[in-house]
Order: sequence, then C-alpha cells, then structure tokens
Amino acid sequence: MKVCVALTKGRLEDQFLQYLESLSFDIEPLINKGRKLCVEAGNLQFIFAKGADVGTYVEHGIADLGIIGEDILLEYQPDVFDLFPLPFGECRFALAEAANKKPSLTKRKIATKYPNITNDYFRNTGESVDIVKLEGSVELAPVLGLSDAIVDIVETGTTLAENGLIIKEEFHPLSARCIANRSSLKIKKAFITPFIDALQGQEVLS
Ligand code: PRP
Repeated sequence: MKVCVALTKGRLEDQFLQYLESLSFDIEPLINKGRKLCVEAGNLQFIFAKGADVGTYVEHGIADLGIIGEDILLEYQPDVFDLFPLPFGECRFALAEAANKKPSLTKRKIATKYPNITNDYFRNTGESVDIVKLEGSVELAPVLGLSDAIVDIVETGTTLAENGLIIKEEFHPLSARCIANRSSLKIKKAFITPFIDALQGQEVLS
C-alpha cells in the first residue's frame, strides 16, 4: 500500500529534502522530478503543493502525511493530526515597521499573509487595527505606504533589514511540522509508522 506525503513547495521543500538525505533516504527521484508535481519513491508517493494546500490534501485524505510550516497550520487550522516538529524551517512571527516610522495617530493598517494570526495578536494587545491581506512580499507594504506595519514570519531577518524595516515585537517560535490525516493514521498505521519513526530519527529509512 502506498503512503502519500504532501510536501510544501519552495524553501521548506529544499530543507526537507536535505533532511531526508541526512537520514540516508535516496532523494534522487525527488530532485530530478523536473516540473512533475507527483513523484514515487519506493512505497512512498510525494506530491508537491503550496503550504495551505498541503493542509487541504491531508485533511481530505488525498495525502496521508504532510510537511508543512507551523505558520500555515496556525493560520488555516486544517482538521489534521499535528504529529511532531521537524528540525528545520525555524522562524517566528514578528510585527515590524519602517525604522524611521513616526507613531500613528489614527487606526494602524497592518499588512500580512496571516490575517487570522494578526487578528489574534491585536485582540490580545487590545489595539484596533485594519488588516490588509497580501499574498507575499509583505515587506513592500510599509515601504510603499500601503500599511503602517506588517505581521510576517522572520527567519534570518535579511528581508526586513534589506527593506529598512525593524522588528517591534516577536512572537511564537515556529518550525516545520509533520501532520497526518486522521483516518490514515489508523487505517494505514503499519505503512505510515516506519516513515514517521524515521523522520523522528527512530528508525533507518530504506
Ligand atoms: C518569507 C517571509 C519573509 C521572508 C523572511 O517569505 O514572508 O518575506 O521569508 O525570511 P528572512 O527573515 O530569512 O529574510 P517567502 O520567501 O516565503 O516569500 P513571500 O514573501 O513571497 O511569501
């Protein structure tokens, strides 16, 4: 029986493949996949999708397991089992603004890819803000005057620094996570267990 693993494309994909390689997994079929979005390797089938869609594929049982950023998990809250953290993709949420920003006298506009996280953050601080949803390159928003500040993930801090932004507050350390479909964990337990044990460094992958 095949086990389907949904991988988040992009930065997490690269880090996950490096991690698999460090576990002696033959990643050659995954590296030489060209533009294919679905690749088989032994009894595993890997699909490559955007972060939020990884949660959707796992929730609907198309994928048994998923490799996803904790930021996406918290923002979209798919109905899946959050199994364990993985030792890569470490970052955190941050509220940031232009280094020379003067205090705002009116309701602040906050640009973000994470409206739910941002809403929760400002509900806790008690400040009423307007949230502007963007799909990426959020650091542009305060630079161009679309927003007063941003809530985004920060890994190295390079993107903020190179765009003249500074962190006002950091919250919630994040990492990559391994998630599972609730039924797959029961029905395919015997097939899934060796892979998730290996991902936790408890078994050698073959
Ligand atoms: C993420 C995040 C920041 C950047 C932070 O964006 O939204 O822009 O990485 O990384 P750093 O602290 O190491 O500079 P991503 O690269 O995923 O692209 P996006 O902005 O298009 O979503």
